[in-house]
Amino acid sequence: MPLVNLGFEHRYLPARGDAAARPPLLLLHGTGGNESDLLPLGEELVPGAALLSPRGKVLENGMPRFFRRLAEGVFDVRDVEARAHELADFVLAAQDAYALGAKPIAVGFSNGANIAAAVLLLRPEVLGGAVLFRPMVPLEPAESPDLRGVEVFLGAARRDPVVPPAETERLERLLERAGAKVELRWVNAGHGLTPADVESAKAWLG
Ligand code: MLT
Repeated sequence: MPLVNLGFEHRYLPARGDAAARPPLLLLHGTGGNESDLLPLGEELVPGAALLSPRGKVLENGMPRFFRRLAEGVFDVRDVEARAHELADFVLAAQDAYALGAKPIAVGFSNGANIAAAVLLLRPEVLGGAVLFRPMVPLEPAESPDLRGVEVFLGAARRDPVVPPAETERLERLLERAGAKVELRWVNAGHGLTPADVESAKAWLG
C-alpha cells in the first residue's frame, strides 16, 4: 500500500533491476476496473518498469471510471476536462513523491485510454507517451496542444461494438495535428484486449 494518497487511491510498484532506466508506466483501467487490474499487463509490457496505477473516482452503478458519461460513448465534456486536470496533477505529485526519473508512459484501456487521451490533449507536458487500447476522442480541445516529440500507440479493433473505427481515426488525426507521432494498429477482434494487442504494444514500446 502506498504511504500517501496523492488525491487518488492507487498502487505504486517501484522499478526493478535494469528496468529502472525505463520510464514508469501509468496504468489506467477500463469501466468497472480498479488500481490492481492492469498491474499484470504493465509487467508484461515492460518487465520490471515502475508501475503507477490509480483508481478512477467516478462511480457508475458502483463501477469505477475516470470521468462521467451521459450514455455509452456520450461524454460529460466538462467532467472530462476537470478529471483530466485532476489526473495530470496526480501524475505530477506522484513523480515527486516517488522520485520518478522520467515522465510516465500512459497505458490505458477503454475508459482509461480515453482519460489518457484527454490528458495528452489538455496537459501535453505531463506524459512521455501513451499506449491507448480501444480509444475514442474524449474532447476536442479549444486550441491544439503541442505534442511534438510525444509518441502514441493506438490499439483499435475492427469489430469493436463500443468504438467505431472512424472514432479512432479521428483521434489519430487530432493527435497528429498536434505533432504527436502516432502508430495505429488494428486487430480483428472486439472491445476486449487480445494477445495480439499486447504483443504489438510490447514491440512498439521496445
Ligand atoms: C467510455 O465511456 O470511456 C467509453 O465508452 C468506453 C467504456 O468505458 O465503455
